[in-house]
This record gives sequence, structure tokens and C-alpha cells, in this order.
Amino acid sequence: IRSVVLGCGSYLPQRVLTNAELATKVDTSDEWIVQRTGIRERHIAAEGEFTSHLAIHAANAALAHAGIDAQSIDLIVLATSTPDHTFPATAVAVQNGLGITHGAAFDLQAVCSGFVFALATADNFLRSGAFKRALVIGAETFSRILDWTDRGTCVLFGDGAGAVVLEAQEQPGKPSDRGILTTHLRSDGRHQSKLYVDGGPSSTRTVGYLRMEGREVFKHAVGMITDVIVDAFNASGTSADDINWFVPHQANKRIIDASAHKLHIAPEKVVLTVDRHGNTSAASIPLALSVAVADGRIKSGDLVLLEAMGGGFTWGSALVRW
Ligand code: ACO
Repeated sequence: IRSVVLGCGSYLPQRVLTNAELATKVDTSDEWIVQRTGIRERHIAAEGEFTSHLAIHAANAALAHAGIDAQSIDLIVLATSTPDHTFPATAVAVQNGLGITHGAAFDLQAVCSGFVFALATADNFLRSGAFKRALVIGAETFSRILDWTDRGTCVLFGDGAGAVVLEAQEQPGKPSDRGILTTHLRSDGRHQSKLYVDGGPSSTRTVGYLRMEGREVFKHAVGMITDVIVDAFNASGTSADDINWFVPHQANKRIIDASAHKLHIAPEKVVLTVDRHGNTSAASIPLALSVAVADGRIKSGDLVLLEAMGGGFTWGSALVRW
């Protein structure tokens, strides 16, 4: 059995916040932000627009793209670090919003690596036979946990959601078969304090704000990303030359460029959305996938390499025959 991608979709809040507008709020400039990160603008959720709302829009877009009814979904895994509430899971709000009352829905938290972790989780459930069709969603409203007076972090993030529909299909198991070929997940909690939110129900009973030692994150990112991609190549017997599209977590253009360069992945194979979306954490990969599918770059049969690294640290890769 393989988990085959039936479709994908995404949603971005209407409001666009440009670097120039940010420069009127904190001591920064378009030039500084573009040079260090590649980010030009990001979308910001409206007041009253929650992570679940973004997720439901993205899920509906993915279902429409797959051409299937929501009632055929029996598993929802939603990756987020910005849930609507401490509990219940935002995934059950999405399940309810889609009118689904069967199967299971739960949240998964691995910060920026959340989508890759959610994809791997759903893949394992589908391959075990426990569920048949899954919605894997990454949805975030990071604007709500940013300290808008801290120029070192508030310029980096944006809001949005993306989703893919997976189906368990019997496959002979050849590399040319469609579906998820491999997933690799890693974490190392020694790095917790380099990227975290300084609040939470158990410690402070407040929501808190995102805090980051940017340089420390940067220092570890490329090595961790490339290690877990080499794991994917080794496990699947593929190499950089076999990859049609590289869809990395969109945190920073410099991290993406350096990772692609180190792995000998040609720049024209790299899908980049960080310029328009900023870092949308768990939503960034399905948002980028949706852009590249919609504009005709990613086609059925393409080999697509996903990668993410984020708070924890957590990091992971997935190799998908689209
Ligand atoms: N505008 C202008 N100046 C700024 C800004 C800003 N928005 N932010 C920081 N600066 C200043 C700093 O105050 C500092 O000034 P000083 O030298 O007078 O003290 C100077 O710029 C350099 O600051 P650094 O933090 O050392 O700058 P750096 O070159 O490391 O770039 C950045 C910062 C962009 C955050 C970088 O470290 C980075 O991208 N790190 C990776 C972190 C990342 O991508 N995190 C996303 C989440 S993690 C993930 O998703 C993988």
C-alpha cells in the first residue's frame, strides 16, 4: 500500500503586509529584510479569522482539486503551533466545519516541521490499513504570537494554510509508482531555547510570544536539512538528479539556497514562495506545493522532495512521487 496524493489546496488571508509598511512600525527596511531573508511581503489573518478558518478554506480547496467529497475523508491530521484554543484540537473544528462526524481528527505540533511530521503520520496510518483517505493540513496564524516590537522576529513570519488529500492505494511498490516513497523525522530537544514561545498553559497560563536566536537557528539549519535529505536519498535509492522539484520549508531564502547548493539540486528545481508568504511555519510546504501545482510546474509522476526544520529542533524530509 502507498499513500497517493489526490490533490492539494491552500488559503491565504486577504491582508498583505509589505516590508515597506513594516518599516513604519519597527526600525527596519525593505532592503535589510530582502537581503537577509528574501521576504518581500506576508499575509496577515483578519481579526476573528482563526487558524481553523484558514484550514477549512485550504481543506475545501484540496478536496475540490482532488475531486472528492469531504465525507470520504476518515483521517484529519492538522499541523499547527497556533491552535484556535489550548483544546480541543483545531483539527476537530476543521472536521466539524467540513461536516464530517466519522473517523478521527487530531493536531500535531512540530513547529515549522509540522507538515512533514503530519504527512509521515498520516502515511503510516494509511499504509497500516487503519484509515483510507486523509487530509493533511498545515495551518498557522503566527501573527498572533509575534512580538510586534521585536524587529528580529516580527519581519519573518506570515499566516496561511495548505492541505493535501492522501489515499491508500494498492501498489506493486516500484519507485515509479505514485505516492509517498519515504519519510524521515528527527528531533533534538537540546535546542529548545533557540526558538520557542515564552508562554503556555502549564508554565505561565499565558499564550506568550515567539522568541528566537536567529543566528543559532541559521547555524544548524543547513546541516540538519541536508542530513535528513541524504537519509531520504539513501532509503529510496534516488539522488539529486532524480528530483524534479525541491519544495523546502520556506523560512529564509539563504537557508534554502545553501541547502540546495550543498545537495547539488539545480536552482531551477527549487520552489520558492518565501518572498510572498514569509515563513508560515507548518503551512509553508503545502502552500508552496499548491502554488507549483496550480502554475503547472508539479505534474503527475514528478519526484518531489519536501524538507523542513524548525523549533525543538525538529526536522524531516519526505519524498513523494506526485
Ligand atoms: N531590520 C534591521 N535590522 C535588524 C533586523 C531587522 N528586521 N533584525 C535584526 N536586525 C539587526 C540586529 O539588531 C543586529 O544589529 P547589531 O549588529 O547592531 O546588533 C543586526 O541586524 C544583525 O542581526 P543578526 O540577528 O545577527 O542578523 P542575521 O544576519 O543573523 O539575520 C535572521 C537575522 C534573518 C533572523 C537570520 O539569523 C536568520 O534567518 N536566521 C534563521 C532563522 C529562521 O529562519 N527562523 C525562522 C524560523 S526557524 C525555521 O523555520 C527553520
